[in-house]
Parts: sequence; C-alpha cells; structure tokens
Amino acid sequence: MMGIAYLAAERVFQLDTPNTTYLIGIVGTEGFLGHLYYGKKLNSVQGAESLFRLEEPPYTPDTNARERLDFLDTFPTEYSGHGVGDFRESSIRVKDKNGHSAVQLFYVSHEIYRGKRALEGLPATFGSEDQVTTLVITCEDPVLKLRARLSYSVFQDTDCIARSVSFENAGDDALYLEKAMSMCLDMDNRDFQVCSLHGSWGRERHIEWNRLGRGSFRVASLRGESSQQEHPFLALASPDITQEQGEVYGFHFVYSGNFLAQAQVSQFDSVRVVMGINPEDFCWKLEAGEGFQAPEAILIYSCRGLDFMTQNLHDLYRSHLIRSPYLHRKRPVLINNWEGTYFDFDEKKLLEIAKESAALGIEMLVMDDGWFGNRFDDARALGDWRVNEEKLKGGLKALVDQVNGLGMKFGMWFEPEMISGDSDLYRAHPDWAFALPDREPCRHRNQYVLDISRREVRDCILERMFAVLHSANVEYVKWDMNRSLSDVAGIGLPKDRQGEIYHRYVLGMYEMQERLIAEFPDLLLENCSAGGARFDPGMLYYSPQIWCTDDTDAIERLAIQEGTAMLYPLSAMGAHVSVCPNHATGRVTPFATRGNVALAGTFGYELDMTKLKPEDKELVRGQVALYHRFNDLIREGVYHRLASLRENHDYDCFQICSRDGGEALVFYIEGMKRPNQRSRFQRLRGLEGEALYRICVADPKEAGLLQDTGNIMSGDVLMNAGIKLERLWGDFGSRILYLKRE
Ligand code: GLA
Repeated sequence: MMGIAYLAAERVFQLDTPNTTYLIGIVGTEGFLGHLYYGKKLNSVQGAESLFRLEEPPYTPDTNARERLDFLDTFPTEYSGHGVGDFRESSIRVKDKNGHSAVQLFYVSHEIYRGKRALEGLPATFGSEDQVTTLVITCEDPVLKLRARLSYSVFQDTDCIARSVSFENAGDDALYLEKAMSMCLDMDNRDFQVCSLHGSWGRERHIEWNRLGRGSFRVASLRGESSQQEHPFLALASPDITQEQGEVYGFHFVYSGNFLAQAQVSQFDSVRVVMGINPEDFCWKLEAGEGFQAPEAILIYSCRGLDFMTQNLHDLYRSHLIRSPYLHRKRPVLINNWEGTYFDFDEKKLLEIAKESAALGIEMLVMDDGWFGNRFDDARALGDWRVNEEKLKGGLKALVDQVNGLGMKFGMWFEPEMISGDSDLYRAHPDWAFALPDREPCRHRNQYVLDISRREVRDCILERMFAVLHSANVEYVKWDMNRSLSDVAGIGLPKDRQGEIYHRYVLGMYEMQERLIAEFPDLLLENCSAGGARFDPGMLYYSPQIWCTDDTDAIERLAIQEGTAMLYPLSAMGAHVSVCPNHATGRVTPFATRGNVALAGTFGYELDMTKLKPEDKELVRGQVALYHRFNDLIREGVYHRLASLRENHDYDCFQICSRDGGEALVFYIEGMKRPNQRSRFQRLRGLEGEALYRICVADPKEAGLLQDTGNIMSGDVLMNAGIKLERLWGDFGSRILYLKRE
C-alpha cells in the first residue's frame, strides 16, 4: 500500500512512502494526538499501539487523572502544547486576552486527499494527484478556540514527508501566536549523533557532527535570512552512520528567514525535534476569524546511510520544489565580471570580456554589481536601479544587443532589498529603510535594509527593475542580498504587530520573486546573498540555482560543496572558475582543478578573460566542452559522496551515476602533495555488479574529451575492491574519471 490510511479501529494514521512508515495515534477520550513510529517501512502495523506505553505509569488521564501532568510530560506528542504539563520544548505558544499563554490541542477531525494544496504566499513542495497524498488533522484548543491543521504529504517517488501547520482563530477575541513551529517529532533516543551545517562568509555549510547529549542542541538564525552561520537543517543518526549504512532522520526547513531547529533529550531519554520560525522576535496577531500559515518542513528517514537521505532530498527538490523552466535544462555557461573587474568597468571592458569569452564557447555575459546610479564603489546607489550611462555609454540595450550579436546571452545583477544612505531613493524615502526610533541604524557594507514588508516599497523597486529588464534582452538575473537585518521596526504597523515584521519581510521577498518570474517566465534567476547566506529550500522554489559562496578557491570550497550537496542537487549549486592567487584565500591551485570543481555545480567563469594566459584559455575551451558533454549526467544523476578532504585531509571524491547504472563520473581532488605514496583504491557505488565498465579520464585537453585508460572492470570489482586512483603530481591535482558500461 502506498500513501495514507486511517485505521479506524486502532485510531491510527498510517503514512507510507516507498521505504518508510510514519504512524500517528489518537489516545484517550479527550483525543491526545500522539506520535507512534517513524522509520523503516512496516508491512503490518499490528501491535504498534503498544509503542505509546499506555499500560505503564503514568497511564492516560482517563484512567489516572491524578498524574495527568506526568502523562503530558512523557507522552510522545505530534505537536506539543505549552503551559499545561509538558515541560519539554513547546511547538506553540499563544497569548490570549488575559495575557496567559497556555495551549493544548486535541484531535477534532481529519481529511485525506490526493495531491497537495499550495501554501499561500510561501514556497512549498508540490505534486500531482498521482504523486502525492495529503493528510490534514484538525486539532483544537477548546478554551482558546484556536484550530490547528497539521498537514502531512507523502510522495510516491521519494521517501520525504512534507509537514506544515496552519492556524485559525475560531473564537471572538484576538490571539497572539508567539510560537508556531512547523513540526514536532518525539521518539526514543537511540544514542543519536546530530549533524548540522555551520559557517561564515566564505565558509558556508561546513558539516559538523556532535553526540546528542542531555539538554538541547539547537541551530537558529535571527538575521532575517537563513544565514551563512547556521543552516535550517538537522539530522539525527545512529552511532554507526556512514554514507552507506546506518539510520538517519533528516529535517530541512523550506524557509528563508529566522528559524529554529532543535533536538532535546528528556529525562527519560526521549528526543523531541522541533523546527520552525524562530519564536524570538516573532509574534503574530490573529484577529477573530484570521489565520496563519507556518512554513513547510521536510522529513526524511533513511536506513541506508547518509547517501540515501541525500538522494531522496535531491529527488524531492528536483521533482517537487524547483519550478523554473531551466530545471532540467543545461544552463548557459556564463562569465561574470565581478572578480574580473569589481566596480571598475565600462561597456568597452565588458565587450572585450564578452568577445574573448564567446570565442572560447562561453554562452552568457553576466554584468555584476556597479552598473547603476553612481555606483563606483560599494558605498552608494543601491535602490537607484537605472543604468549609469557614464559607464555604459549608449545605454543597456546597445550593450546587450552587441553581446547578443556575439551569440551570447546577457544577464545582470540586482540587490533589490537594499538601500544605500547615499542614494536618490534614500533621499526621497529615508523612512523606507529599517530603523528603530531614536537609534542610529547599523550599516553593513554601508547599506541599510529596505522594509519590503511594505507594499509601496516592493512596488517601487519592482517597477524600477521591470523597467530595466524590459529595456533590453536580459535573460538572467542574479538577485543578491548582502546584509543581515537589524534595527527592524515596522512603520505603519501597530505596536502589537511589530513581532510580525521579520516574517512579513520574508513574505514580501517571496512575493517580489514571484512577481519577477511571473513577469519574465523565461528568465533564469539565480539567488545569492553575500555568497551563500540564503541558500535554502525556500529560495529554490523561485530560482533553480543559488550562488553557493563567494569563496571561489577550488580547494577551500570543497567543504562548502560537500555540505551543500549533502542536501541540494548539484544543479542548484552556483560554482565558477576564478583566477589565482584566489581572491578569498591567496591560494594557488591548478586551472584544471578549478574547472573540475566548478563542473560539479552550475559552471561558469568569474574573471577577466582578456587577461587569462593562453594555455588556460585552451583549457577553458575544453572545460566548456566537458560541461556540454557531461552536464546532463551531473544535473540529473544520482550523487554519492565517497570521501571527504575535510575528514581525511588527503583527498575528496564523489560520484555521479546515471539512474540505470550505465555510466558514472568520479570526481577526485587531492589536497597537499605528500611524497612516496602508493595509489589508492576507492570503492564506487550505484553500478551494476555484473556489468563491465570501460574507464576513461575526462580530459579537457583530449580532442574527444576522453582518454581511454584501457581498463575494463566489472561493477562488482569497482564497488567492492575499488577503482584505482593514481597519486597526482603537485598540490591540489584532480581528475574526473568517466565509466561507461560496455
Ligand atoms: C556579493 C555576491 C558577489 C557579488 C558582490 C557584488 O558579495 O556574493 O558574487 O555579486 O556581492 O557586490
């Protein structure tokens, strides 16, 4: 059976994905909604109710009202209440007209339907009636008259479950939602390890593992964006976890603002995971009859190691989240002028770069920051979205036409959510920037944040952007966001709605992106935030790719790409080749390695092509050819992490396999050279055991791009003994191997 069923006699909901089962039960005459089981698929669920431990103290309040508090504090709940006996992390907190904040939700009714409804104003996974089944359980707090609808969607083609919660104030008095998590999951602790992603500018999404001890492990953002520092993701894994084996529960939040993800271990060694909008600085007023939709959280369970979690998330995002027409298309190989020129360019310089690049097969020129207002440096002009004709003589259309004349597409950079103090926009509307009364707002990179929770601000910025984009044939936009939010105050909102601004800001940003892609349906949109400060599933709903990091150092970014690719398909990961010494680290790496690392993402260049050495230009030609030859496989294939330089300090290795096991690419990048070492054998995955594979080196210098090693090996040997990886000469050498079934 696939999908969702309600077993009326047992009062149990059974949710099945291809390989997992999730069970929810209703308990007692009051209708406590409890969590029974989440894990490997159960073909029969008989006896599962005993997992509630109702035959042991403290028993249910029906039979033992004396210990009601103990029941609530130990019961594995689907959505924890607050203030009435459960002392573990609450999922919800609601202030009522008396200033009290207790909430306890009880089961009222449910609905099971095929398909999945959209979440108004929010990014969310989707699927047809054949692909998805949804369960909505309506619960109510009878005192507050607050209804909560817990929604669960299961997909027939991935093991992910999408959860969200919506609220409705069915009473007569206003309520204040002070906390509204998107999910809660209680289960027994199995000596879990907890995995999270951490970083900073230029060091985003590094994988970190910790033992889950008593107390709480939490990751969170209060920056108004999902952030570089922490990522809206947590995983709990069994102690024996590897890429290939062990159990893992992954939780990923489809949201781009302040978040909280927490795993808490209780006195009885149960674990509660909650994930949702960060309750700090959040308070949403619900007038009588009003509703609130909390964003979506993705759950994934794998009993086949981390690889399987990764592959399921990749499949979910590729099939049920990214909407762009570019999703299954090769993206044009681009050249971005940022690291090549920074602010120092004019139309002549851009055209020189374009000409040089077109001759090497590059397909799109992206004009980065510095083309508008008096933007000669980063201290001014954000908000003045009109072309600086001192720099671009003849205007935008003339430039774009010439670029198009070279056979290249044209793209450009915007930072729509920001405003410089030195800008015409700020002089006209100083109150559009976030600022708290009587406090000087903080600048970062000399800029302030626009209050895009306000409709008139969004309209003005979009009108300016649309005017620019309609004036020429612009086929790509890089939407940047270069600072975190601070000094957040909402003009025009009453004081009891100030706690809504962070979320309203995110809703405003989503609305702007929606309007942009609706106005330009063929636009290739790439999101960006000071590198990768807003690389999250929410943004993928609007753009098929996101700039991964400003760190273009091929070696340093291996850890970033590893962490990113653990959750996101490679087709979403913006990756460019830049010059050395690298601008973020000063490191020198081989040009070939820079190409090999960028080929594992969306692929492009970020340098001044007119200054590149002739031998590197030759490599560009070959790398572009490799991109065309292999991008279908890289974009659509199955990803396996084989080895991590971050862990072993020696080499990095990953594999992308076609779904039928007929071909595979093995990316292999070495760290610092050590003398006197033997070759190593690396076990592969995902091949057909009895098939034979011809092993080639994918080499940009070869005419046919493939250098046949003459080796033909069986899938069994490759998967169990390994493929031979030669030690390469010098630091940071790399190879891409191509395996083709004979
Ligand atoms: C951010 C982006 C860069 C570049 C600059 C321009 O840092 O991540 O790629 O666009 O802004 O100011």
